[in-house]
Amino acid sequence: MTPSVAGNNKKPAAPTPLVKVTKANSEQPLPAADAESLRQFDSNNLLRPTDHVDPATRANPAKPNLLTEDVKLHHLSPYLGTEVSGVQLSNLSKEGLDELALFVAERKLVVFRDQDLKDVDFEAQIELTRHFGVPHIHPVPMSVPGYPEIFSLYKVSNRPNVASYLSQGRINYLSWHSDVSYEKQPAGTTFFYVLDGPEVGGDTLFLSTVEAYERLSPAFKELLVGLKAVHTSAPFEKVSSMPGAAKLRRDPVATEHPIIRVHPVTGEKSIYVNATFTSHIVGFKKEESDALLNFLYDHIGKGADFHVRATYRPGTVVVWDNRVTAHTVVADYDKNIRRHHIRLTPQAEKPIPATEI
Ligand SMILES: [Fe+2]
Repeated sequence: MTPSVAGNNKKPAAPTPLVKVTKANSEQPLPAADAESLRQFDSNNLLRPTDHVDPATRANPAKPNLLTEDVKLHHLSPYLGTEVSGVQLSNLSKEGLDELALFVAERKLVVFRDQDLKDVDFEAQIELTRHFGVPHIHPVPMSVPGYPEIFSLYKVSNRPNVASYLSQGRINYLSWHSDVSYEKQPAGTTFFYVLDGPEVGGDTLFLSTVEAYERLSPAFKELLVGLKAVHTSAPFEKVSSMPGAAKLRRDPVATEHPIIRVHPVTGEKSIYVNATFTSHIVGFKKEESDALLNFLYDHIGKGADFHVRATYRPGTVVVWDNRVTAHTVVADYDKNIRRHHIRLTPQAEKPIPATEI
């Protein structure tokens, strides 16, 4: 696809960066998180409702602070995914970050190259996360030591991890999901970057759950709107029981969410179930629930015409909106290769059911 130049020619005033680059974090790959060294926090806070005001609601739709004349966009598919050059995320002002939230909500997945986010102070990375919502603290203590809000996906051959557990006994390693969907207020605009990984492989597949919804017939959409499903973090209990695995930070939770949710800013409807965390449909018998969920998982997972692939290079930062996408790692690389990524996961609003629209 031909790269296009952003249509806005207005140069923003000199931005006030939200974060500070120190070049401190990238010298060595980070060590694996040690549960004993984690900063103390009140895990009960994780379950309290918070008022979420999406930063995209404050954004100028023309995005003059984000899409300046130097910015080039390369769309990966009509439905989702844009590769952006000419933006340094750490230089964005608060207004630029608001516009980023809107841009990511619209494009669903955005890939930024040559970023210095890994060199930014961890405190400032948490502050960046906080701009988009309350930073999530994962029940599995895989985080940067001292910074539980920074999720550290550190995978080596001798270390138990979620992906290896969930893919056991299957013929492929795909595990489509939306991050932390079991929370009362699951993830919104989410950041992911590389510290260490294979030269080839280890990509992430993304799909638009909005387009997946749009493909359904009116009668089938009507069936789904109004239904709720339960999402649970119980699978992590099995992960934590593996030899050498750290204990969970809190007991598993189970939460009901609408199967069709509405994005608070774009108003788009999307399918919000995933095989990783969704256990059953509320009010359905087991066979009914299994049949309907399996149909949706098949429909979503096999719809390659609304999928894209994000690739990683040193300096790549991938940003996606977990409310309108699903994703899966592509575990096609040699398992002896260390893969180390960082995820910043702000929690967004309680999912809005399509019945309220
Ligand atoms: Fe994920």
